[in-house]
Amino acid sequence: MGLLDGKVALITGGARGMGAAHVRLFLEEGARVVFGDVLDEEGKALAEETGATYVHHDVRNPAEWERAVATAVDMHDKLDVLVNNAGILKFRRIADMSLEEFDQIVDVNLKGTWLGIKSVIEPMKAARRGAIVNISSIEGFVGAEGLSAYAASKFGIRGITKSAARELAPFKIRVNSVHPGAINTAMAMDPEMAKEVDAEAFVKSMVIKRFAKPVEVSHVVAFLASDRASYCTGSEFTVDGGLLTGAGY
Ligand SMILES: NC(=O)c1ccc[n+]([C@@H]2O[C@H](COP(=O)([O-])OP(=O)(O)OC[C@H]3O[C@@H](n4cnc5c(N)ncnc54)[C@H](O)[C@@H]3O)[C@@H](O)[C@H]2O)c1
Repeated sequence: MGLLDGKVALITGGARGMGAAHVRLFLEEGARVVFGDVLDEEGKALAEETGATYVHHDVRNPAEWERAVATAVDMHDKLDVLVNNAGILKFRRIADMSLEEFDQIVDVNLKGTWLGIKSVIEPMKAARRGAIVNISSIEGFVGAEGLSAYAASKFGIRGITKSAARELAPFKIRVNSVHPGAINTAMAMDPEMAKEVDAEAFVKSMVIKRFAKPVEVSHVVAFLASDRASYCTGSEFTVDGGLLTGAGY
């Protein structure tokens, strides 16, 4: 028996990185999965390989949310899990960042998450249950040089998560946030960030002294999406190898 048997899940930003790991693990655990992204080539290839359904879905666009949700409901008659995973990062100090760059990050990471929650309320109400997992970051708890917009968006996700948890509890919809630390994906290897951050010192400051594999986050996301997390809502789950424990970071 799979942890997610019988569940229908929509995962954003699922074409690569952690989103792709969530797609694979959710399928392994018995869910039927629809995933979206703006990287159509990678998305279609993953769909072909795994049997999940890919939809072009820019999380900034309300009409594309409608289409992604409708795809899941039309194919599988319901939608009971949303993973708001899509995100972007740009390393830029405030003095050098343009307002357009700030807006881009907030639009994808924060407004995209809010739009996602808004878009699944009706189908989850209809299903009489639901689980929403919002991917924030350790930068949802602490600031970091060069990441003001990113941190603002990831702090914001905590606020949206808690407000939504309160609003949606009457409909048996749980809403939680996950806060990954250093995970081995294209985002963490961002070339501009690599130029500026002393990677060796960063790894030394960790408690578990390595980057995580994406699937190590997927296991926590799958737990929160499952009925095993029935008493968890409005909560924050760090998957950071202990990064946030002390003064090292
Ligand atoms: N990698 C890390 O160390 C780390 C740490 C903490 C949090 N996170 C968060 O985890 C999530 C996944 O990141 P990742 O590390 O897998 O990075 P990634 O860049 O590999 O994956 C992000 C995915 O989101 C997609 N995406 C970007 N803009 C989009 C949009 N407008 N609409 C739909 N999809 C869009 C990308 O195309 C990509 O497939 C992000 O929310 C990120 O902020 C990552």
